[in-house]
Amino acid sequence: MSKGSRAMDVSSASFIPRRVAGAAEARAVLASEGAAIVTGLCDERSAVAFGREVMGDKAVRIGTQFEATKAHGEKEAAQVAMQPVDSRGRKRSMAPTEERMVAHNDGFAFGDYAPDHLFLWCERPAARGGDSFLIDTSRLLDLLAVDPEWAAVADFCRGIDIDHSEPNYPQGMHAPIARTAPSGRFQGRYHPYLAPVEGPSEAEHWTFVRRWEEAVVAARDTGPMFRVDAGEMICIDNYRVLHGRDGHSDPLRKVCSIWGWSTDAVAVPDGPLDIVVPKLPKLPKLPMSA
Ligand SMILES: [Fe+2]
Repeated sequence: MSKGSRAMDVSSASFIPRRVAGAAEARAVLASEGAAIVTGLCDERSAVAFGREVMGDKAVRIGTQFEATKAHGEKEAAQVAMQPVDSRGRKRSMAPTEERMVAHNDGFAFGDYAPDHLFLWCERPAARGGDSFLIDTSRLLDLLAVDPEWAAVADFCRGIDIDHSEPNYPQGMHAPIARTAPSGRFQGRYHPYLAPVEGPSEAEHWTFVRRWEEAVVAARDTGPMFRVDAGEMICIDNYRVLHGRDGHSDPLRKVCSIWGWSTDAVAVPDGPLDIVVPKLPKLPKLPMSA
């Protein structure tokens, strides 16, 4: 734990999403609670179609980004492991399937182009382990803000620009950890490579970035986890809610990560994004929705 900080109870920032009946209810619960679970989706095509329906009139783009399987994860991890350390000494790496995941927003490498919706469709759960967790960053920041020893961390997250890039893949812009998108959507971000902007305040800012990390890890490890069965899909506000899963070693587990962009997104790519080589799309930002 960092100097001067003490443990606080942030377990209530983690939550088990409600099971809902249809796309309209999923949309409403997504807006109010940040995530919902639906069931009865028998194939990937139905899952993608359902995701589009959840976004409704605001849907711009949706597609399966990748299949999360042990074999696919190992292949990507091997490619990423070959990539060099960056000028700040940071190195990309993907953890083994057997480890509990670091909480994250999907598409974090792409900054403004990250999807605002995420749909995790489970084709086959792990025989053992692999339970999911979700962290509401809005709730987590509210908890930090009312604690005298953590309020400065919440202020930092809400007010100070940092670098959200992955090592060697600069985004060319800085933004606070938490912000309100032009569409009015709340966005709170975490991933393993967050770093302060280089400069005179860098050392001081590192202490805040590390404490945000500490809070996210505490929420993950003290909050509830839940099992998702075959045919179920977690619908997630990928701007507001971090996700991940516990470790497992089942080669047959298969989850599809489906990325959705609505008119609420800050920017929308016009093609698939490559998470192994996360170059930013060379595109102008789309105009903001009103
Ligand atoms: Fe993810």
